[in-house]
Amino acid sequence: MFQQDMMKGRAIFITGGGTGLGRSMALRLAGLGARLFLVGRREEPLRDVCAEIRAAGGAASFATCDVRDYAAVEAAASAAEKEFGRIDSLINNAAGNFIARTEKLSPNAFNAVISIVLNGTFHCTQAFARRWIAAKQPGNILNISTTYAAANCGSGFTVPSACAKAGVLAMTTSLAVEWAKYRIRVNAIAPGPFPTEGAWSRLMPSKQFEQHALDSHPMKRFGRHEELANLAAFLLSDMAEYINGECVVIDGAQWLRGAGEFNDLLEIPESVWEQMESARAKK
Ligand code: HXC
Ligand code: NAP
Repeated sequence: MFQQDMMKGRAIFITGGGTGLGRSMALRLAGLGARLFLVGRREEPLRDVCAEIRAAGGAASFATCDVRDYAAVEAAASAAEKEFGRIDSLINNAAGNFIARTEKLSPNAFNAVISIVLNGTFHCTQAFARRWIAAKQPGNILNISTTYAAANCGSGFTVPSACAKAGVLAMTTSLAVEWAKYRIRVNAIAPGPFPTEGAWSRLMPSKQFEQHALDSHPMKRFGRHEELANLAAFLLSDMAEYINGECVVIDGAQWLRGAGEFNDLLEIPESVWEQMESARAKK
């Protein structure tokens, strides 16, 4: 449905672009003509995705950057501008998450997720918006949220993520209004389950739980990466010019089936939790 040059002339900065959904969005957007600047903490995945984009005839570059560090974000934003001139879009995709019983969390565990998801999103958002406002140029921000934030229901066992993603949604709606006069659009996507190594390794405790997630899904399947990448392309494109402050859920109606995606972890017995925790402690 999309014209192959739909994103031609565009330059997009994406956090966490080296893996999972970030990688899939980067590849799709590059395939539609955009130039991509990827950031993340590890160099290797970023380098690999850039090579993949270039091998397909696209333009991409990267910088290692921890989004928790404002100075590092500033440096990456400047490096991106140096590479591509004006950056017109930002995708806040980087995240940290894991399942844990909340009463067992250390303050640092809570903080680790909040600082990647909430502070990191703020850092990147402000770094680019300041540039766009100063240059009197429009901009586009797309935040990757989750359904348990969009549904305003939270989710047991992923409390730091639920708090952080809810904050990101508050940022999305607040800034959509505050910065509309600068022609900066701020939207979000709330994905349901999309298989990625990052999410599955941290959030799927077992094959049985994965099967249960599939069995209880109204569509009996997980999301396909291209479905999410196409939604991201649409929301960033000129076709979506009047969409501002919106969070689009893409989950095959999973959250409607039962609020609190991870509440089914209630079925895991105490003894299994203890085994998992001691295995993690031994690492
Ligand atoms: C309890 C944990 C823990 C766990 C880490 N911690 N894992 N606590 N249960 N499973 C604690 C540590 O003990 C430590 O606290 C603190 O968290 C920080 O851990 P570090 O490993 O030092 O932090 P860091 O290296 O910064 O790593 C951050 C991270 C890690 C979030 C913990 O998982 C990460 O890098 N994640 C990035 C990728 C990711 O999470 N992808 C999934 C996104 S999927 P102490 O007190 O010991 O110092 C997603 C999907 C949602 O969001 C919906 C899915 C369907
Ligand atoms: P992922 O592959 O683990 O993606 C997370 C990315 O964030 C990684 O590339 C990681 O790279 C980067 N990152 C983490 N901490 C960072 C930091 N401090 N600074 C910079 N980059 C950092 O997992 P994913 O499933 O694709 O998740 C992508 C997004 O989709 C996240 O926002 C997630 O919450 C959201 N989401 C996913 C699902 C799903 O089912 N997969 C569902 C709902 C929402 P480094 O480790 O190299 O830094």
